[in-house]
Amino acid sequence: MPTKVKLLQPAPHASLEVVGQQSVVLVDEHWAGLERVELDLDRARQARLVTFAPEEPAQASFDVLRTKVLRCLNVNSWTTVAITSPERESGKSVVAVNLAFSLANLQSCRVVLLDLNLRQPQISSILGLDMARPTESFLQGRASIKSTFVRYGENLAVSAGPHGINYSAELLQSQSARSAMMQLHDKLCPTVVIVDLPPVLGSDDVLAFLPNIDCTLLVAGAGMTTMAKIRCCEQELAGETNLLGIVLNKCRYGHGRGYY
Ligand SMILES: Nc1ncnc2c1ncn2[C@@H]1O[C@H](COP(=O)(O)OP(=O)(O)OP(=O)(O)O)[C@@H](O)[C@H]1O
Ligand SMILES: [Mg+2]
Repeated sequence: MPTKVKLLQPAPHASLEVVGQQSVVLVDEHWAGLERVELDLDRARQARLVTFAPEEPAQASFDVLRTKVLRCLNVNSWTTVAITSPERESGKSVVAVNLAFSLANLQSCRVVLLDLNLRQPQISSILGLDMARPTESFLQGRASIKSTFVRYGENLAVSAGPHGINYSAELLQSQSARSAMMQLHDKLCPTVVIVDLPPVLGSDDVLAFLPNIDCTLLVAGAGMTTMAKIRCCEQELAGETNLLGIVLNKCRYGHGRGYY
């Protein structure tokens, strides 16, 4: 799990409450309308969701990460964070899910988690969601928030489609996807939107969606991701996004309670 988080923006103040243009009552109604699901804790643990495992040292790392992220968002009046990496399998989806659940432990924080790795979505498998609620239909303007998102507890909304699709980059940069994201902000007034994306290198999906996000967290896999790949990724993203920081995932701890 992540041990090192370097955030590039100084963030001296934090205040969690962000309410959009709507009344709180209307926002609450939209949240209440989402189908509530329960987490399968055993499965989630197997998939490395550690938010509910106090014995896991990685849990503390995610709590530190959530607070740093929140501070940066608050200082800059941002809400939408993309999670990406230079290349495959560095742990983006695991980081995105853990960060979302850690944020949702703060009751004043409304959190939305979106799996926009449309080619190979993984979050439904991590969470054990077997409902057919394809995120692409929402981005195409063919499905409502209510029929797309499920809710964990009171304040975490998740859209995690079950199957991969082709032509994801075209959809991610479409006007319908932009409208869907605006609708999401308008109706759910999230404090934070976490967007799980594919790797930067190898497709144009990330570049396609960046206009819809405020800032980006890069996930590097310890022993996997080279500095050259990180630099290449930074160059690719330069001028396209605010780089929030780099999370070094899959570090190995040297203590007796297991390691990541
Ligand atoms: N900190 C960690 N320690 C050990 N294994 C991990 C860690 N984080 C993720 N993994 C494992 O690495 C694999 C890839 O993780 P994950 O699916 O989150 O990567 P990803 O970057 O989202 O992949 P993709 O690029 O395919 O979207 C999974 O088997 C996951 O359980
Ligand atoms: Mg993934």
